[in-house]
Amino acid sequence: MAVPGGGAAAALALTLLLLLRSCVSGATHASSALRHAVPRGDAGGGLCGQLLLPLGYPCTEHTVETDDGFLLSLQHIPHGKNGVPDNTGPPVFLQHGLFQGGDTWFINSAEQSLGYILADNGFDVWIGNVRGTRWSKGHSTFTVHDKLFWDWSWQELAEYDLLAMLSYVYTVRQSKILYVGHSQGTIMGLAAFTLPEITKMISAAALLCPISYLDHVSASFVLRAVGMHLDQMLLTMGFHQLNFRSDMGVQIVDSICDDGHVDCNDLLSSITGENCCFNGSRIDHYLEYEPHPSSTKNLHHLFQMIRKGTFARYDYGLWGNLRRYGKLSPPPFDLSSIPESLPMWMGYGGLDALADVTDVARTVKELRSTPELLYISGYGHIDFVMSVKAKDDVYVDLMQFLRLRANGSLHSSY
Ligand SMILES: *[C@@H]1O[C@H](CO)[C@@H](O)[C@H](O)[C@H]1NC(C)=O
Ligand SMILES: *[C@@H]1O[C@H](CO)[C@@H](O)[C@H](O)[C@H]1NC(C)=O
Repeated sequence: MAVPGGGAAAALALTLLLLLRSCVSGATHASSALRHAVPRGDAGGGLCGQLLLPLGYPCTEHTVETDDGFLLSLQHIPHGKNGVPDNTGPPVFLQHGLFQGGDTWFINSAEQSLGYILADNGFDVWIGNVRGTRWSKGHSTFTVHDKLFWDWSWQELAEYDLLAMLSYVYTVRQSKILYVGHSQGTIMGLAAFTLPEITKMISAAALLCPISYLDHVSASFVLRAVGMHLDQMLLTMGFHQLNFRSDMGVQIVDSICDDGHVDCNDLLSSITGENCCFNGSRIDHYLEYEPHPSSTKNLHHLFQMIRKGTFARYDYGLWGNLRRYGKLSPPPFDLSSIPESLPMWMGYGGLDALADVTDVARTVKELRSTPELLYISGYGHIDFVMSVKAKDDVYVDLMQFLRLRANGSLHSSY
């Protein structure tokens, strides 16, 4: 694979290897939580069987195949715990963020987590899980041990995974779908909404920590990883799967945390920024499910956005771009081509070190529509899915928006 800056990356790869060797004996506190976490096995009934059914929620597992052969799992929660089965509410599709999976929406208590709350409030809930996460590890040809299984970035998650999952729900329900995304789930959404075959299935979109531009990211861990060219280094070394649960992943975290530039005493804060209302005593439970793997190519694409300030397709370098796109640089996703008639709602926070307010403002400015905005100065990146107070702070407002926009039928057009 051609990696931009490959020469420098090779030199840095050596540095990383040396750093890793020095870590082998003395592991630091920084990653000790990851190291000692006991992940759930892959067996055990999937997301429905592990989280929802034990709490008494109806939940079924579905598998959809993307046009490039990935087998994704999708969960369906048709109503709440005490709902009426034959009174199906409007379909809402939830798309998780980077290193997360569909479990994200169910990881706090049933009173606190958006997935349960939507089901209990009469919505027909569908949960997306992108390729590479624990719930979506299948492919028609490749296994997770193949390099080609990991040959994708969020561009494919938007163009293939979202298309396949939304088409499935659209076909089953014969109704337009309410879209809810968090973080990378908003990058995927905003890219996908520029494609007419996707917007025709969407009645409205609610974006938590919306991201299209990333050049104001301020998270120290991320900036350090960008600065040391971690993405190019890993590609050069042939690590195509990015899994922070693997020995390699834990060592990467140690090597970034140990060089004195990043305070990793609070690893979550150094990666996402401060979070007001994260439940620290639930960390063991979170670590049973997260972080999920992603691809190194995806990391590289995200770092391209941070370095260049663009919201564009993956940059394959001059010749690769010419071959693939017929242009020397990767074509941008044009936010102004999202239909003005697609209603949008955005929730974003003043402490978010990934979806920075400056970048959010640029996204909003480039849209033709005027999204409804909920700004919470004391909220960080993870608060929007995991805050113990998110129901009152965010979800009541979000559900109000969804209810008002829920009636786009197959036949209505905007
Ligand atoms: C935080 O998590 C613990 C452990 O699951 C739980 O007992 C407690 O109620 C949670 N706190 C809040 C405010 O939800
Ligand atoms: C949408 O339709 C449902 C029932 O189909 C109805 O109860 C609700 O009031 C409608 N909402 C709006 C905003 O028209």
